[in-house]
Amino acid sequence: MRRRLLRRHASSRLSSAHEGIVAAVVSAILGDFLSNLQSKTTADVVARVLEELDENERRRTTNGRPFVTLAWAQSLDGSIALEPGQRFALSGSESLALTHALRASHDAILVGIDTLLADDPELGVRHWSGRWPEPVVLDSRLRTPPTARLLTASVPRSVRIVCTAAADEALGPPLMARGAQILRLNAWPNGWVDLDALVHALAEMGVKRLMVEGGAKVLTSFLRAELGDYAVVTVAPRLLGGLSAVGPLQEGRLPRFASTSSHQLADDFILSGALRWGSS
Ligand SMILES: NC(=O)c1ccc[n+]([C@@H]2O[C@H](COP(=O)([O-])OP(=O)(O)OC[C@H]3O[C@@H](n4cnc5c(N)ncnc54)[C@H](OP(=O)(O)O)[C@@H]3O)[C@@H](O)[C@H]2O)c1
Repeated sequence: MRRRLLRRHASSRLSSAHEGIVAAVVSAILGDFLSNLQSKTTADVVARVLEELDENERRRTTNGRPFVTLAWAQSLDGSIALEPGQRFALSGSESLALTHALRASHDAILVGIDTLLADDPELGVRHWSGRWPEPVVLDSRLRTPPTARLLTASVPRSVRIVCTAAADEALGPPLMARGAQILRLNAWPNGWVDLDALVHALAEMGVKRLMVEGGAKVLTSFLRAELGDYAVVTVAPRLLGGLSAVGPLQEGRLPRFASTSSHQLADDFILSGALRWGSS
């Protein structure tokens, strides 16, 4: 009797262990399936955005300057950070992969000095496989610290720091010792780097595609100067009430997306399209 009870107990333990193993296998297969599906969706969206970018570049005349893509992540209310000088991670991992794929398809990637000081970005392609673009920093007064991550990243590449006559000459050598190239260009009346001079200097250095990632002052300057051929905006479903991606523009010359594609990557929406300026 006792032996029969023991056997029954053992077989019920065996069957619950068996159910546990089946559940673990099913959940592993389901997990793999979902993550494969997620990576397939990301890969499909990346392929479509990159195709659209190529198509736009083929159709656009840029008169000797690089093709310029503006790309940023914002909240639903148009904020790119809670406040200036503060880093705020807005995009999910899937849209981050898209940003890195976009970086890999550009020759150079540009940020303003205040973004460098706030985020200390590496400006690499860690979430996608591809070539690391060459960083360009708009930094009129050479405030870039020689310890900045983009100067110490393990991948060798040219880093260009663009200043104006306002920069103290003594600040150049420590940056050059870290491999940076200093470009001294004309300034706008407000002291910032003249963007027209910049894009032509970059073209002479072989940059055919330039990606501009921000921050807000830099994006606004490019939009005000009508220097943008294509834009990719990641919209995260949250509200920040923070630093607006785009500041005041010129009335009568407002940019719009001439054609808009939209994609969803996890919770984020990706809006991309060719930029055009006009009065309406
Ligand atoms: N969500 C996103 O996608 C994203 C992306 C990037 C940054 N961000 C956030 O944006 C914030 C920084 O943005 P920000 O607007 O304060 O600064 P920013 O645009 O990164 O840098 C602006 C600075 O760049 C220099 N500059 C030189 N030439 C310029 C020109 N022609 N036009 C504009 N700037 C020029 C100026 O400093 P000098 O006078 O010293 O040269 C200017 O103050 C940070 O909080 C960062 O985390 C968010």
